[in-house]
Amino acid sequence: MDIKKRKIIFDVDTGSDDALALMCGILSPEFDIIGICTVNGNLPVENTTENTLRVLELMKSDIPVIRGCSTPLLATLDPLRKLRLRSNDGVSADGEDVTYHAPYLPLPPATKKVVEGANAVSWYIDTLMNAEEKITLIMVGPLTNFALAYRAQPEIIKNVEEILIMSGGHDQRNSTAASEYNVFIDPEATAIVLDCGAKITMMPLDATHKANMRPQHQQLFEAWGNPVGDFVAAEIEARLKAYNTMQPLHEPDIAPIHDALCVLYLLDPTVITNLKHMRCDVVCGGIADGQTLFDTRHFNDAPKNVYVCLDTDEEKFATMLVDILSRSKNI
Ligand code: BDR
Ligand code: CA
Repeated sequence: MDIKKRKIIFDVDTGSDDALALMCGILSPEFDIIGICTVNGNLPVENTTENTLRVLELMKSDIPVIRGCSTPLLATLDPLRKLRLRSNDGVSADGEDVTYHAPYLPLPPATKKVVEGANAVSWYIDTLMNAEEKITLIMVGPLTNFALAYRAQPEIIKNVEEILIMSGGHDQRNSTAASEYNVFIDPEATAIVLDCGAKITMMPLDATHKANMRPQHQQLFEAWGNPVGDFVAAEIEARLKAYNTMQPLHEPDIAPIHDALCVLYLLDPTVITNLKHMRCDVVCGGIADGQTLFDTRHFNDAPKNVYVCLDTDEEKFATMLVDILSRSKNI
């Protein structure tokens, strides 16, 4: 019997953890991925697009890639915001260059091309306005593309089944003392998406800092001795070094694969162990620029707008990630 596949659009700023999220999506028979939009975020959109195409080539996938926005909606109009941007790069204590996201993923240059003449904003509008069934959006970079599409044609929401975003932090932040990276890059876009009226599930840092790979996983992938294993091992290694050097977390030697948690949650919601329906707004400007502000009062004066994932079954996440990526041995 054919299983009914969920129609999916990805929106990515690939990006090491975006790459692994995409790979998990591609390897999931539960999904019918109809397009992948790229956006400025971890890297300029030229790089995130090329990296996305490289991943598709590695996975022998023909999913259409649509290039998206090269700048946030408003954030770059404010020079002060640029000054506070997190860098991808650093130097470890023993003098080694480390990075969360090298300009290009260590894969052969792509021969595949983006959808010619298309841009993600109008593609979202065309695709969603003409969809015959509802589509789930997995957006794991800054939310610029979809925010602009929604502003231009709010009716697109009618064909959105659900939106999953890797965004924000309840108690944890990584870009500034107030903000998570994807929100900090485009706070206004996040604010627009949070109030678009679709069902939104948010994966903040509180959950994704428990979505980890560790040195033993790096070794496991290395031992495969094939291009996918080598690539995944290299990305885990780079992230382990970058986090140990630039962003030590609650324990050493953990590499969060933030974006993959959105995909795994869709496949098995029990990977999340604490989920709350809440009101969340985004602070735009000022000292808390890009903060996701959750209303924790017992009474609300604005409607709840997001399901927030606050904790992760870390072991389940790691097992699922390894299992799903293992399917690549058959491609
Ligand atoms: C998010 O920011 C990016 O660096 C990652 O790809 C992830 O989407 C984590 O804050
Ligand atoms: Ca990302």
